[in-house]
Amino acid sequence: MGRRVYLETYGCQMNLADSEIVLGHLGRHGFVEAGSELEADIILLNTCAIREHAEERVVGRLTQLLSLKLRDPRVKLGVLGCMAQHHRAHLLDRLPFLDFVLGPDEYRRLPAILERQGFDDPTIEVRLGREETYADVAPARRDGVRAWVSVMRGCDKFCSFCIVPYVRGRERSLPLPLLLGQVSEAARAGFREVVFLGQTVNAYRDGDLDFADLLRAAARVAGILRIRFTSPHPSGMTDRILEVIASEETVCPQVHLPLQSASNRVLERMQRGYTIEQYDRLLERLRRARPGIEFSTDIIVGFPGETEHDFQTTVDYLRHAGYDHAFSFAYSPREGTRAARWPETVDREEKRGRLQAVIELQERISLERSRAWCGRPVEVLVEGPAKRGQGWLSGKSAQFKTTVFPSTRHAPGDLVSVGVRDATAHTLIGEVADGPRLEPSANA
Ligand code: SAH
Ligand code: SF4
Ligand code: F3S
Repeated sequence: MGRRVYLETYGCQMNLADSEIVLGHLGRHGFVEAGSELEADIILLNTCAIREHAEERVVGRLTQLLSLKLRDPRVKLGVLGCMAQHHRAHLLDRLPFLDFVLGPDEYRRLPAILERQGFDDPTIEVRLGREETYADVAPARRDGVRAWVSVMRGCDKFCSFCIVPYVRGRERSLPLPLLLGQVSEAARAGFREVVFLGQTVNAYRDGDLDFADLLRAAARVAGILRIRFTSPHPSGMTDRILEVIASEETVCPQVHLPLQSASNRVLERMQRGYTIEQYDRLLERLRRARPGIEFSTDIIVGFPGETEHDFQTTVDYLRHAGYDHAFSFAYSPREGTRAARWPETVDREEKRGRLQAVIELQERISLERSRAWCGRPVEVLVEGPAKRGQGWLSGKSAQFKTTVFPSTRHAPGDLVSVGVRDATAHTLIGEVADGPRLEPSANA
């Protein structure tokens, strides 16, 4: 039997997709996947560097995993991904027991590194390739309903707070015909939904072809019922992309559009490349293009220089925009970025207070929006059993809302029309038109 690999993933969907590439690549070199860290010869952590907290979690986990190495020194422990790229050799100052540190463009080397006999010195490989897209590596896809497809890598935007351009390198796209091949392949393997991934996914480009061309072509691949994409940058949502969202039913009526702040002063210092007026017009254009479309967003509070007034502008905008969901973060300075050189003006307590306030506000907005679905039907793509108990299934609506309903007749991959009867902030609870009735008291 081949050597057994256990891989744990942190961070965003792009990291999840990268992990599928790593496992696909290792699989073809004779490595097999271990069921847990306890059964593994090789333990890999694919890491995230976006905020300090993300890194602290990884350090904590590695310290735990050290005990397995101490028990059996043949066990190899390696760090992959953005945190590896961010700290490079310095990671070993803090974690001297690591066997290797590999950045996001170095995964091809993994089999060779692992096959090397008795390597004692840790290996550090952190070059960023302008060309690397892993286009020829078939990913080991997991989840049987939704296929994650990275269409571009890297980011050229350099928002002042963000580490991504430094750890992921320059923007580069995969060839369009190859991506359509991957979509068809996923459809043949039984996947029903495709999510196109990229840090600025709408910056996709293959010669004269752009993201609108990719989206339209993919929407017409037989067998794929739904296409989503994440995350588009608000400044690159062209009319052509909007036209595809308007005219291709397969493209879901849901877009994640990271706002960060609604104050123009802050947006400018963040170097986001849009004003709140432009952003708001974009929401309007999208709502006109595709009635019923839902939005989610990312918010950063406590950015250097953010005043109480700036913060209130963001709070007011959240009420106005009516997002279905928002991921909110307290600003975390990242060494090497522009903003990290600016003094922090919002103290810890204040940051925490602002974060709490936006989270609570958004919970109320999400609940209101969820409740508005009561009495209406949603199309649910079933993913699997729901946590709430036997006989319940869970899936997403076209608007990406988690929906649960009782059924013994449906299976993952089925598209089911569900009447919504009840709702929490993040879950719709419903019943199939001719399925079992819900108890009137059913609560999430
Ligand atoms: N490419 C996406 C964002 C990817 S990072 C975009 O441009 O929209 C995901 C989110 O993490 C960001 O939208 C931002 O809200 C948050 N984030 C990034 N850097 C951060 C930092 N230094 N501190 C706090 N939050 C941060
Ligand atoms: Fe980071 Fe900005 Fe690039 Fe998004 S667009 S990954 S926030 S630099
Ligand atoms: Fe984190 Fe890297 Fe993604 S920094 S958010 S895992 S691109």
